[in-house]
Amino acid sequence: MDITIIGTGYVGLCQAVAFSDIGHNVVCVDVAKNKIDMLNNFIEEKSDKLPIFEKGLPELIKKNSARLKFTDNLIEGINSDAIFICVGTPSNENGEADLGALKNVCISIGKNLSLSNKEHALIVTKSTVPIGTHKLVKNIIKQYTNRDFSVVSNPEFLAQGRAMKDSIQPSRIVIGKDNGFAKDTMYKIYKPYEDKGIKLFFMGNTDAELHKYAANAYLATQVSLTNNLANLARAAGADWNKVKKAILEDKRVGRFVNASSGFGGSCFGKDVRELIHSFGRFNVDNSLLKEVINQNIKQKEHFIPRIEKYLSGLEDKRICILGLAFKAGTNDIRGSAAMPIIKGLISSGARINAYDPEAIEETKKELQNFEGKEKITYYNSKEEALEDCDVVLILTEWPEFLEPDFELIKSKLKKAAIFDGRDLFDLKKIESFGFDYFSIGRPDLTK
Ligand code: UGA
Repeated sequence: MDITIIGTGYVGLCQAVAFSDIGHNVVCVDVAKNKIDMLNNFIEEKSDKLPIFEKGLPELIKKNSARLKFTDNLIEGINSDAIFICVGTPSNENGEADLGALKNVCISIGKNLSLSNKEHALIVTKSTVPIGTHKLVKNIIKQYTNRDFSVVSNPEFLAQGRAMKDSIQPSRIVIGKDNGFAKDTMYKIYKPYEDKGIKLFFMGNTDAELHKYAANAYLATQVSLTNNLANLARAAGADWNKVKKAILEDKRVGRFVNASSGFGGSCFGKDVRELIHSFGRFNVDNSLLKEVINQNIKQKEHFIPRIEKYLSGLEDKRICILGLAFKAGTNDIRGSAAMPIIKGLISSGARINAYDPEAIEETKKELQNFEGKEKITYYNSKEEALEDCDVVLILTEWPEFLEPDFELIKSKLKKAAIFDGRDLFDLKKIESFGFDYFSIGRPDLTK
């Protein structure tokens, strides 16, 4: 099949590459000429840079380069069997999804659809969009064309850090459609996935739009509940790691039971905030989800007073922060706990030594207008970052942080103290090395 993908962010690029890998021809369109140039330079082997860091992506682009085309001109993709909209829908100031990019794409599709050689065009929304947006997509395009077209809602379920894997082997494929033509074409596109044993769910457009938000709301709520329970475990002298291990045996409970400094990323916060608005729009009580967000904000910041208390103040203290990305396996720092924590520690007088295997450049960009940025020093290794710090705070579960050289950490820090925002270490082991240890879901260990 011939497919056009508009938007070459995480979703668009990974989905495009996954489609090309099962044999479809894909035209990727993006208005950001610098991204298109970067992708073309990569394919032509003039550079090894890609717009995003995602495991497996470079290899798969190379493998499928004959079936991938990158352009900033939508006309080159107007004849495809389906045009997928994969542009961002970030939160606006009051938490609603900003549909500006999506609307522009719809106008552009509408204006160019008369050039399509297809009798009936298929426009597929993969971007995460508020419930009911399929009607908006239809109405905007209709204003600019007389051609026949159908609108399909086909949400994505890929998690960053495993976006390529999730695009090739998604947990399920959800297709919201309103007619038989849309169903048949979408079935042809996704048949190779069904052949691999992945279930296809056909439903209405509104069902598909709600499905995406429901899935993220379940996951985000579980993270907030997990962190609440882990906080209780710490206060009550229980060990959340032991509690969760047994809980995982109950198949009715989900898998997001790892305590953390709150959820981050570009999706949970944004989607739950938008869903809160949808509840409001339909006059349904939204207080549960509001609390999911509130608890998450508190969870992200809770280490600041704990570190301050331990060090009897933060003035002139140096804190080593290991892990800036919002989770392991990505260079994305959107929603990362590291950002409010760094800002909070610095505004209370501390200095920061920071290290992350992938996210340093992104962090520098994010904090370029932060007035305390001079108080952050970035390092190329965790060992260098630890040097001369009072304590260390670990925020991301990167594999290289999982089994550290504890003697080395001790020798570098002024105080043998670890603050662990991911509950990574065994209490007995930590105790045997003589550390003071502060985690999320276990009682503090102090000498
Ligand atoms: C999330 C969903 O997992 C995907 O299914 C969805 O497609 C995607 O959003 C999206 O809407 O595009 P992602 O944000 O990449 O994917 O990351 P997750 O792995 O879900 O993690 C989200 C946050 O929750 C991270 O900060 C992670 O560290 C945190 N988390 C996760 C916990 O604190 N505890 C857990 O047990 C699991």
